[in-house]
Amino acid sequence: MRKILYNSFFFCAVILIISYSGQVNSALAQDKTDKNIPRLQKQGSATQLIVDGKPFLMLAGELGNSSTSNFAYMRPLWPKLAKMNLNTVLVPVYWEMVEPVEDKFDFSLVDTMIKDSKKNNLHLVLLWFGSWKNSTSCYTPAWLKINSQRFFRAQDKAGHSLEILTPFSEENRDADCKTFAALMKHIKQTDKTHQVIMVQVENEIGMLPDARDHSQLADAYYAKAVPKELIDYLQKNKDKLLPETSKAWESKSLKTTSTWEEVLGKSVATDELFMAWYFAIYTNKVAEAGKAEYPIPMYVNAALNKAGSKPGEYPSAGPLPHLLDIWRAAALSIDIFSPDIYQANFQQWCQKYQKIGNPVFVPEIAKGEQNAAQVFYVFGQHDAMGFSPFSIETTDNPDKEPLAKSYNMLSQLSPLILEKQGKGDIYGSAVDKDNPVQNIKAGNYLLHVSHEYTLGLSPKAKEETWPLSGCIIIATGTDEFIVAGTGVAITFEPNSPGDPIAGIVSVDEGSFVNGKWVAGRRLNGDQDNQGRNLRIPVGDWGIQKVKLYRFK
Ligand code: DGJ
Repeated sequence: MRKILYNSFFFCAVILIISYSGQVNSALAQDKTDKNIPRLQKQGSATQLIVDGKPFLMLAGELGNSSTSNFAYMRPLWPKLAKMNLNTVLVPVYWEMVEPVEDKFDFSLVDTMIKDSKKNNLHLVLLWFGSWKNSTSCYTPAWLKINSQRFFRAQDKAGHSLEILTPFSEENRDADCKTFAALMKHIKQTDKTHQVIMVQVENEIGMLPDARDHSQLADAYYAKAVPKELIDYLQKNKDKLLPETSKAWESKSLKTTSTWEEVLGKSVATDELFMAWYFAIYTNKVAEAGKAEYPIPMYVNAALNKAGSKPGEYPSAGPLPHLLDIWRAAALSIDIFSPDIYQANFQQWCQKYQKIGNPVFVPEIAKGEQNAAQVFYVFGQHDAMGFSPFSIETTDNPDKEPLAKSYNMLSQLSPLILEKQGKGDIYGSAVDKDNPVQNIKAGNYLLHVSHEYTLGLSPKAKEETWPLSGCIIIATGTDEFIVAGTGVAITFEPNSPGDPIAGIVSVDEGSFVNGKWVAGRRLNGDQDNQGRNLRIPVGDWGIQKVKLYRFK
């Protein structure tokens, strides 16, 4: 008879279901033999990635899916990535190529990536394309794919098998755990310079075309009671649950003997919650197996759902905003849940992922000119750990890419940003024609950040759409800010008792060299509109220091 999964989870999970802070602690666990392995560390409200003993901002990009499957194809790409001022590259590692024959591992692609990234002064985030890649199991090895008697698939409502491994099979899970553990062991043994700083476990997990797996194994779990670990979590955290979670479980009698349907009713929403729990349990086991060998930070990414679409219509049950409580309760070895942002309203997606204390790391975002502004917002407003447009290598002029210019400024500013993260001194803004102004309360001042075209100085202001503009603002004194970005104008107003008018003492352009400010031109005339506003025109990138005063 098929083995019943997860009996042992009960005891493990009781131990593992702890407070929110436990999420970070898992990656804080250090390997005693190497104090410098990458880890996470709290600073105020921020979580920072520590690389070689120091906080690190990932100015990153993700490679297209197939680029790392061939040494020769990859070779010319490394210098190109370095020219874009990246310090980190997100690179796929394919189960099928790591284990072409069962139990025979081949890490040559990974070894070459480590060597070549080091030569080009780049760190790596490995993307484990294991059991799932964009819902399906396309990167599983051939020996696994062809053996459906041993490695079971999920099934749709009609009982048809899908190209998706079921998360309810112990055999599937153990095979993935074993290979992932071997990979992490290999990294630990070979990557002595810590090129690899983080790992993504699986890729965009999600059920399609039904919200839940209807295989025999899945049905057996569906007929069981909601796991006690989840009920305990919901009860223990009832005051800090996400509104989506509270609503789903509101006024339900959380009995440990009730099935998912008895507690939540029969619906695709229940199907999705059920799947989220078991996908998370499986993925957590894979992460645990890897961390047992080499405990560096690990995250899981989500394909986001379109507003108004129902479970089953989008890749369901991944770590989506409305399921984050479930994932957090089940996947304690996962440190971060991350959005892959291909939809509008990127600011709202970042807010949703930060809401419950989840560190913000954007491992994928649609590549385009807007990235150059988005990145200032993400690091400024969300204490982000990293930013990474997808298919980063697709450019013929790497050093002319708008993002390369933003990354240049952010790498100069990294020491200051990292010193200030989590302390309430950093702000970010992104503005366009639809939302041309953002007001930011920053200590004693209210900052009105506007799109530069609102000044009416550029003939392009008449065009139908405006490029996205953005900036990061860092308070460096009670009356002083460093602003870096592109395409913005900022005016200042007092935000505390005292003299009612804010004036500009001075605006200087400048740069940071080894973390120290080096002033350039003074900009107190036309460039700051005769003391009316700080300005960085559209098409320009700049770092400026503004000193303010108050008068009546
Ligand atoms: C999101 C996935 O995570 C990537 O691997 C890639 O398939 C992109 N979508 C393509 O847009």
